[in-house]
Amino acid sequence: MPVEHCPDTGVYLLTGATFSYALAVDPDPDQRVPAARHIHWGARVTLDDARELMARPPRHARPSGTWSHPRAHQEEHVVQGGYRHDEAALLVEFADGVRSAELRAGSVEVAGDEVTVILVDRVYPLRVSLHYRVDSSHDALIRWAEIHNDGDDAIVVHQAASASWAPPPHSGYRLTTLSGGYAAETQLTQRPLEIGRVVLESRTGISGHENQPWLALDLAATEEHGEVWSTALLWSGSWEAIVQTMLDGGTHITLGRGADRPDRVPPRATLRLPDTVGIYTSDGYGSMSLKWHAYERDRVLPDPARLRPVLYNSWEATFYDVTATGQLELARRASDIGVELFVLDDGWFRPKDDDTAGLGDWYPVARRFPDGLADLADQVRGLGMMFGLWIEPEMVNADSDLYRAHPDWIRRWPTRPPTVARHQYLLDFGRTDVRDWATRTLDRLVTGIGIDYLKWDMNRAFAEPFSAEGGNPWIDQVLGVNEVIDRLRQAHPDVLVETCASGGGRGDLAMLSRTHWMWASDNTDPLDRLFIQEGYTYAHSAMSMACWVTDSPGSLSGRETPLTFRFHAAMCGVLGIGGDLADWSDADLAEAAGLIGVYKEIRPLVQTGRQYRLGSPRTDETFGVAFVAGDQVAVFAFAPRVRHAAVGQELRLRGLDPDARYEDLSSGAIHGGNALRYRGFPLDLHGDYASRLIRLRRI
Ligand code: DGJ
Repeated sequence: MPVEHCPDTGVYLLTGATFSYALAVDPDPDQRVPAARHIHWGARVTLDDARELMARPPRHARPSGTWSHPRAHQEEHVVQGGYRHDEAALLVEFADGVRSAELRAGSVEVAGDEVTVILVDRVYPLRVSLHYRVDSSHDALIRWAEIHNDGDDAIVVHQAASASWAPPPHSGYRLTTLSGGYAAETQLTQRPLEIGRVVLESRTGISGHENQPWLALDLAATEEHGEVWSTALLWSGSWEAIVQTMLDGGTHITLGRGADRPDRVPPRATLRLPDTVGIYTSDGYGSMSLKWHAYERDRVLPDPARLRPVLYNSWEATFYDVTATGQLELARRASDIGVELFVLDDGWFRPKDDDTAGLGDWYPVARRFPDGLADLADQVRGLGMMFGLWIEPEMVNADSDLYRAHPDWIRRWPTRPPTVARHQYLLDFGRTDVRDWATRTLDRLVTGIGIDYLKWDMNRAFAEPFSAEGGNPWIDQVLGVNEVIDRLRQAHPDVLVETCASGGGRGDLAMLSRTHWMWASDNTDPLDRLFIQEGYTYAHSAMSMACWVTDSPGSLSGRETPLTFRFHAAMCGVLGIGGDLADWSDADLAEAAGLIGVYKEIRPLVQTGRQYRLGSPRTDETFGVAFVAGDQVAVFAFAPRVRHAAVGQELRLRGLDPDARYEDLSSGAIHGGNALRYRGFPLDLHGDYASRLIRLRRI
């Protein structure tokens, strides 16, 4: 039963496959007891356990209430108001200037696996509803808040988090985040939590390169053992997660939109805040990631049953030097090696061979495509591949017909010159006419040229949060982009869409709910990528992670790496090729064809199987990733720098049936599941950037 209730205590207990979440709504609240009190998030407990936990007094920190409300940090949704000083999930200001909310319990609605707790201000026409939905089959809890203005004056919202998540009080938490920056996204970052606040955020208008809107807390957990509490925000704009830790170990994760304040709830309106998802596990980070992978595939990504194609993208091969003949030559080679989707990146609409002009004028340049772009698309399809196109709909160059015709369509302060970045301005997607133009433009391209896939890029941050039409520019921009993508996908349900923002700048679950995969980073150096990919796998599935094999030495790293190593790294996600195929030797092309063929064979495992990290590039000389589905196993082993001391290493496999026997499909050798698990697969890797794909079959 996902929801149980104890009328005597007001406890509501929400239960998933392996977690429980308990809160108590006080039917007769006074100022000493929060109207909705947090009791538990973590391992499964019973109603009796919840009652006992509820009876516990606050730990030693502030029993007297002299310096703050003694139970302030037990509140389910901390509001600013009264004698509270914790990080607030809600800070409102009423028309008379009062900046305080005092909530009492209103009502609680239970409908199947959903609970809605309604809290009501004691004086003002403000209602806050806290929403909970148990996703039993994914062992997840979905939470969000809504702010209802029942009055006749607008309410200013200075802070409005979607939810405040709190694991049990403990002073030993470690915080795990996926942090980094451009070309170094999703680096696994861990730090102990001390008393104070840790702020993770994006202020750039998109979910950002710096941090994924995802984090986890653990108590000395490893890959296979220990408790982990993790949560993600489904929002593609600026956001904020504040992790506050008290002396008594009380820890809150206040998670929601950010950098978009103040917001305004008009009279009789509701502010619906984005979903958050919480996933708890008692079996370590490996088990946590498996749950996130399944959640992303089943609940987030569009068309999860559609295996993602092997693509070729010509960006690194030609940059802005795009011609029909050059692209066709690449397309022929791509088709010969087994590519299924040919993608023409930036440059096709550019009047010059650089990034200074053309954004906004989404028409192929005649000198590049004398017979038209549709002709190239037809020829690509004639080679047996789908045709894909890059586009950056949110942007315009000053040097473009669109900007000359509509200088008022960009985000800018009326009194200051607009900020230029990469020679481009941000279009105001809060405007209906801009969204309609973008929708028409996409529709024209998809139908006119015949496009099977769009790479939706976004290459500069938000700077001027102003719109002549009012509203909240930070939020309206995100909602506007969402609307245009949704309209595109509604009109063209078969078109595949990739999210990209200078690499992995917009890889949140809200964006992934409307796009098929994400360009995880512009950094395609395979060693750097293995670090990026490691972090990525904590929160995301291989089905959403686009990876390319590019040329050596790498354009960013200057590092020389063998083609096999590059392929093996990229085969751990949605495989793509991004090198200059015109320069690849026959031997390279033959090897590529072979490995693409192998990838197609193991693609169902990689994209939809269970994924296990085997060691880590951060700590191990030899590490890998295993994909398991049914009786099939594919293991990628990597050893970037083999030292003699490490020769003879065995890679301990995970995810296998310990009692089964496995056949090595290349040597025919038979291994026991236990031997592979507890001793490891014997590797024979030599030299630098060594790697190997091991395929096993359970017999
Ligand atoms: C940034 C993307 O991340 C690249 O892959 C490429 O599409 C460029 N933009 C094109 O301008």
